[in-house]
Amino acid sequence: MVEPKKILLGVTGCIAAYKSCEIVRGLQKAGVDVEVVMTESATEFVGTATFAALTGRPVRTSTFGDLADAIPHIRLAESCDLLLIAPCTANVLAKVACGVADDLLTSTALAAHDHLMVAPAMNMHMYESPATQANLTTLAERGVALIEPASGRLACGDVGQGKLAPVEDIVAAALAWLDGRSASRADAPTSVLDLLGKHVLVTAGPTRERIDPVRYLTNDSSGKMGYALAEAAARRGAEVTLVSGPVALDPPSGINVIPVESADEMFAAAREAFPEADIAIFAAAVADVRPKERAGRKLKKGVDDKALRIIELEENPDILATLAATKRPGQIVVGFAAETDDFIANARKKFASKHADLIVANEVGRGKAFSQDAMTVALVTSDAASELPHSSKREIAVTILDWAHSRLANNL
Ligand code: PMT
Repeated sequence: MVEPKKILLGVTGCIAAYKSCEIVRGLQKAGVDVEVVMTESATEFVGTATFAALTGRPVRTSTFGDLADAIPHIRLAESCDLLLIAPCTANVLAKVACGVADDLLTSTALAAHDHLMVAPAMNMHMYESPATQANLTTLAERGVALIEPASGRLACGDVGQGKLAPVEDIVAAALAWLDGRSASRADAPTSVLDLLGKHVLVTAGPTRERIDPVRYLTNDSSGKMGYALAEAAARRGAEVTLVSGPVALDPPSGINVIPVESADEMFAAAREAFPEADIAIFAAAVADVRPKERAGRKLKKGVDDKALRIIELEENPDILATLAATKRPGQIVVGFAAETDDFIANARKKFASKHADLIVANEVGRGKAFSQDAMTVALVTSDAASELPHSSKREIAVTILDWAHSRLANNL
């Protein structure tokens, strides 16, 4: 069994400390094990009992007082995959930048210097101050992941930059950081919110093409690939629209999910979201055909025998090909190709007809790809095809987004 990832959440004395409770919940929802360490001043805002109840673990505020755990800062730093300090006051930020270790949290931060993420929150003037800015630069240069504060009305009434970043962004950033690490990418970026401000459209799952109110044509797509893409894009800070056929997966949080049933409905939803999308990924297994006639009532044996025996079909719109043909410069379009044989050669043929920038070719049939957690794919572009090692759909999603992000970044 794979051990859940562990995040140590450091909470400091700031009015936004109550939001750390939501951060705990968001991380736990994603399957992360969370432990909390607080500074003494943080306990003026939220009690240790609140975090203890949320995490089911004791919450420590001091290095001393527990003989059974005599060197807690080293144990805590070594036992977590990431130390996330959110909110991080100007004072704690300064201490961490200078290597001051005068309480449990700052001692732990010093020991966890290579897996540390910080979400500052403070008054705008404190944030703008040359001292704070220099501390931020120092931390960034040392590879500490920083989540910029948001702008808006601050607790003191001032309006400016200093608000704790939105909880969803902090959770997404922490999860993305864990993803980068768990995929063991040597070049895992320090700043993982590399799709912030970008809009990503994903289609996922099968479509159902109704014969009558109780019968339909469909396929075995579970939606896992499309959902993995949507979740990975959201973790990297993107605003995600997920147009989903009928699947048994939970709608991911923080993502705009548009549930649809038929190819026509999927087309309408995708067509609306497409112009805004910086990256559009078509992972859905859209039925190529649908019954020409759809009965308004259940077709009955002995009454509607002809209609039950012979179902005349007509073509569905090709959502990918139609929308990709209208793509604007700079927009990235990724399609999939589900092939039972010669999957790379056949995907190359599809590449030409679909107007996509990238086709992700996957082998299907005989229990492959559909509904599985892992599969073999090849990335096919106009001039190359590279087969990836058999990987989980989460890892494949990260690779596809890396590819799309580098295209966007290079303005290709
Ligand atoms: O959902 P999972 O269980 O996780 O399985 C993942 C998957 C196997 C469904 C996925 O990896 C995949 O291959 N999706 C595309 C399936 C498919 O319909 O392939 P295709 O070769 O028939 O279509 C090629 C491309 O055109 C696809 O991007 C498809 O979304 C798109 N298409 C196809 C027909 C159509 N009418 N409209 C489309 O947009």
